[in-house]
Amino acid sequence: MNQKTLDGAIVVVTGATSGIGRATAEALAGKGAHVVIVSRDASRCAELAEHIARTGGVATFFAADLSNQREVRAAAEFICARFPRVDVLVNNAGAIFEKRLVSADGFEMTWALNHLSYFLLTHLLLDALKAAPAARIINVSSDAHFAVRHIPFDDLNFERRPYRAFGAYSLSKLANVMFTYALVRRLEGTRVTANALHPGAVATNFGRNLGGLLGWAFRTLVARFALTPQQGAQTSIYLATTPEVARQSGLYFDRCRPKRSSPLSYDRDAQERLWAISAAQTGLAI
Ligand SMILES: NC(=O)c1ccc[n+]([C@@H]2O[C@H](COP(=O)([O-])OP(=O)(O)OC[C@H]3O[C@@H](n4cnc5c(N)ncnc54)[C@H](OP(=O)(O)O)[C@@H]3O)[C@@H](O)[C@H]2O)c1
Repeated sequence: MNQKTLDGAIVVVTGATSGIGRATAEALAGKGAHVVIVSRDASRCAELAEHIARTGGVATFFAADLSNQREVRAAAEFICARFPRVDVLVNNAGAIFEKRLVSADGFEMTWALNHLSYFLLTHLLLDALKAAPAARIINVSSDAHFAVRHIPFDDLNFERRPYRAFGAYSLSKLANVMFTYALVRRLEGTRVTANALHPGAVATNFGRNLGGLLGWAFRTLVARFALTPQQGAQTSIYLATTPEVARQSGLYFDRCRPKRSSPLSYDRDAQERLWAISAAQTGLAI
């Protein structure tokens, strides 16, 4: 852990102020990276940056509500203005919401935060990633994506069907995987790789906001039997640092090993349809 394998590398971690993201940011700073923390709460961001500095690392932060596209754009502007290149982008910020909420841009909140923020931030940082000698994009997804049997293209916003917290969450996590695969086709010929991962069941703040059976399960069962955040961060850290994965791209990892994602995630037509919708929803002409 103390080997400075990332000396001088610029590493952006979203949702770095708790759980898996925090453990990832601390570990990568320990390996010599300059960590750029992007998370929603300025005081938690500052506390983490100070903690990293106290332990001999280097960190910068930008507080942004990543469910809001204006704030995603502001974060990207901040990063691009300060750093000529980005070596690693860890899209990690995510949540599950008990009730249907609508983002500042009018999208169902889980979709806005868990998927559209990954999509938009990645595109806004793409030139900086391409400027690195070899860059890695890491999308933290979840095995929850296996639960989606059908993509409701006609109602991604849950306007014409009952909202289900887990349904919205698993759909957003499937979108993370499909975005990764569609992105890799577009990264061909560049020195940028992209992979998705499942961190395991990890005892973090995730899901503790929920009521009912699901909330109870997160607060008791997951808290007791799950991985620690440090254990849950291992695959993100592995993908950010290990030389063996330098050329691996377009894969889904679990416990630091590639595995098959859901059959639906490999549907190229659906990936492209999702891409076109996400580009339109984020105002990107791509
Ligand atoms: N825990 C698990 O078992 C598990 C399993 C599979 C996948 N995952 C995935 O792992 C990732 C990290 O989750 P976690 O378990 O570490 O959860 P967590 O402890 O709740 O951490 C989530 C992070 O995202 C930040 N965040 C939440 N909403 C945000 C917003 N609107 N704008 C910017 N940042 C925001 C949080 O900030 P605050 O510190 O201010 O709250 C926190 O830093 C998520 O993508 C999740 O889907 C987790």
